[in-house]
Amino acid sequence: METFRSLAQMKEWSRAQITRGETIGFVPTMGYLHEGHLGLMRRARSENSRVIASIFVNPTQFGRNEDFGSYPRDPESDSLKCRQAEVDVLFMPETQDVYNHEFQTYVDVERVSKPLCGKSRPGHFRGVATVVLKLFNMVYPSSAYFGAKDYQQLQVIRSMVKDLNLDVRIVSCPTLREDDGLAMSSRNSYLAPAERAQAVCLFQALQISGELFRNGEKEPMKYIEAMSGRIIREPDADPDYISLVHPETLEDLNVVDESCLAVLAVRIGKTRLIDNMLFEGRA
Ligand code: PAJ
Repeated sequence: METFRSLAQMKEWSRAQITRGETIGFVPTMGYLHEGHLGLMRRARSENSRVIASIFVNPTQFGRNEDFGSYPRDPESDSLKCRQAEVDVLFMPETQDVYNHEFQTYVDVERVSKPLCGKSRPGHFRGVATVVLKLFNMVYPSSAYFGAKDYQQLQVIRSMVKDLNLDVRIVSCPTLREDDGLAMSSRNSYLAPAERAQAVCLFQALQISGELFRNGEKEPMKYIEAMSGRIIREPDADPDYISLVHPETLEDLNVVDESCLAVLAVRIGKTRLIDNMLFEGRA
């Protein structure tokens, strides 16, 4: 595995691969890698002749009072994990190279960035879309792999790719979970043991929605009440949002028909966790 920090080196390597007819699978991450990330890398490995993973903790997607400074980092262990996942290139650009001091150009995916996490994290998806487009322009991927755990992020990126006519295939990969159902996340490392035990409430709330969906429930409020009921049983859980939305537009549903996305963000102590489940296939 090669490790590049320089943008020029990264571009040169990718250009050479493309000239040779190789396909490039790309997995952008912020590091502190877990099985969820590695699943994306394995999928990329199985579908491409070359695989690039990036680690870049992107300052523009963090709000002023968020955890940019304390975001967990472990580059040595990450590098080993990428090697084991048979990544060809680990790209770790420097912040000053990604954002020059006169930087002033952003990608704003207007509608789908607004609800859910967009409300409590203004500017977050602008930062995500901007850095993902920048990374695409450094790596030249044929396909890029994203986790369904960050469902809204995936929709933002899909819209950006479509609206800006980018030639990148976006691949969605299922959410990987711990044994009790908690979605894997780098931020789970913030949880104290008592909080970790409570964190399973997100998954369990979503499962309750799944049951309602399979039983034919059409009324969104029923789902939201049932999910809230499960969340507020935990002493340290404080919901940011609990919603039932259209899987593409992410707008609130008035009635649940053939498909819906149950989606929630909950603070457990100081740690904000997100999760979602897609329900479909009902007449
Ligand atoms: P990060 O949180 O490091 O996640 C990198 C990728 O891993 C994202 O596509 C995310 O959806 C996926 N992922 C995280 N946890 C997962 C899980 N439990 N199962 C499956 N996939 C999972 O998301 C970001 O970084 C950043 O916003 C980024 C896209 C890199 C832009 O900075």
